[in-house]
Amino acid sequence: MNATDAINQLRQGQKPEWPAGASTLDFAKSLDNKNDFPRTLRSEFLVPTKAQLKRQTLTDDAQTSAKASSSDDEGIYFCGNSLGLQPKAIREYLDAYLKTWGSIAVGGHFTPIADSPITPYQDLAGECSRRMADIVGASSSEIVAMNTLTINLHLMMASFYKPTEKKHKIMCEWRPFPSDWYAIESQIEWHGLDPKKSMCLVKPDDGYLMTTQNILNLIDQEADELALIMLPGIQYYSGQLLDIPTITAHARKHGITIGWDLAHAAGNVELKLHDWDVDFACWCTYKYMNSGAGAVAGAFVHSKHGDNGPNVGLKGWYGHDKSSRFLMDNKFVPTPGAQGFQCSNPSIVDLTCLAGSLSVFQKTSMADLRSRSLLLTAYAEHLLAQIAARNIKDGDSPFQVISPTDPRFRGAQLSVLLQEDLMEDVSAALEGNGVICDKRKPGIIRVAPVPMYNTFEDVFRFMSILEEALQPKVQAQGQAQNGAAVEARL
Ligand SMILES: Cc1ncc(COP(=O)(O)O)c(C=O)c1O
Repeated sequence: MNATDAINQLRQGQKPEWPAGASTLDFAKSLDNKNDFPRTLRSEFLVPTKAQLKRQTLTDDAQTSAKASSSDDEGIYFCGNSLGLQPKAIREYLDAYLKTWGSIAVGGHFTPIADSPITPYQDLAGECSRRMADIVGASSSEIVAMNTLTINLHLMMASFYKPTEKKHKIMCEWRPFPSDWYAIESQIEWHGLDPKKSMCLVKPDDGYLMTTQNILNLIDQEADELALIMLPGIQYYSGQLLDIPTITAHARKHGITIGWDLAHAAGNVELKLHDWDVDFACWCTYKYMNSGAGAVAGAFVHSKHGDNGPNVGLKGWYGHDKSSRFLMDNKFVPTPGAQGFQCSNPSIVDLTCLAGSLSVFQKTSMADLRSRSLLLTAYAEHLLAQIAARNIKDGDSPFQVISPTDPRFRGAQLSVLLQEDLMEDVSAALEGNGVICDKRKPGIIRVAPVPMYNTFEDVFRFMSILEEALQPKVQAQGQAQNGAAVEARL
């Protein structure tokens, strides 16, 4: 199989032709060994072993064999859509921070240490902005590393949601992540308005998916009353990647401010926030950016809002221009650009982790990651389709993939909706075999092969475990229509 051709096809929304032997370990390994498309950066990460995943104490590495002797010993981690794996660089970065704090103490704010991977603390947020610029397609002055995602959504809405009697609605999706819902709801309430009247929900019109046309129509219909549109770049449940440029351009046509929650998109898909003329965007860095649980988040504010002093709604001393911040004269001079939105002095532990995880992104590009991701996820989809076909029960497939079939409209994640009675067995089998992926009741498993550290072998091994987990149910109920084929695989 020519991987480069396959990736080009996927980029155009077509399906590649998989060879007959694609569902074998050898084939998966052959893709991992190819050099004609971007390779994994797995060696930059700590991949837990199956034994480590059962860890009960911090000191039991001797018993739990910290080092995998073969890929069979490694866990299969498909949960980067929730929490990315630990980049090895982070330990080196944290160590440098601890040494700096432990030696020059407060001097760490301003004093460069020649051989340290981190800059003086005063410059570290700016350094993280520079390292995130290419990832989201913006200039570094349009980006700020601060706070956490929900807080940043609030700060952005405090600046960009200015309801009037006529234009008071916020458009969001039918099923936003709870924190987005609460943030939008409470911002509306903060203005003394009623969320029932001021939240405008985009409903799915294609299974679990929201078509672009449906969104554009709703914008047309509601334009006179919309004060703000806030949508997810990638919907967390279905994995749908929305058409950010088209929807943003449409909002712009109507003069409506538009912001994006990129929690599941940043570090996952290619973004061009500046060129797409997005007003603002927020993302967390603990998913595809691998900065650790609850890590410091990122926000984007288009330069048109910030070049000459940002449109800051809520102020704090760290939004004050760095050159005169310490004059303490209480005359707010905003830092030009997104960094004017900072309030507090940032956690240097958090920024250190972020700078460390972003150092891995500096070894690649979003274009390369996306190319690899398109093929990895398409391979997962292909194997899932084969498993579904082999395991029809009562004329029904044991699961349905609810993510978009068009690769241009999804990221790494495939959301697999299992028949409800299968969830328990499948969960137990995945856990028992060292597989980590996200399960959402009633029957969704979110499978996210992350291009930075997951391999085609991971995908193959995951699928074998999934298929085995489906067998007992199919056989116990004596309902396998293709029992022979199933047995042949056992
Ligand atoms: C889409 C989305 N929005 C908001 C959040 C909440 O993020 P935080 O707890 O970092 O504020 C998450 C967390 O996973 C998310 O996926």
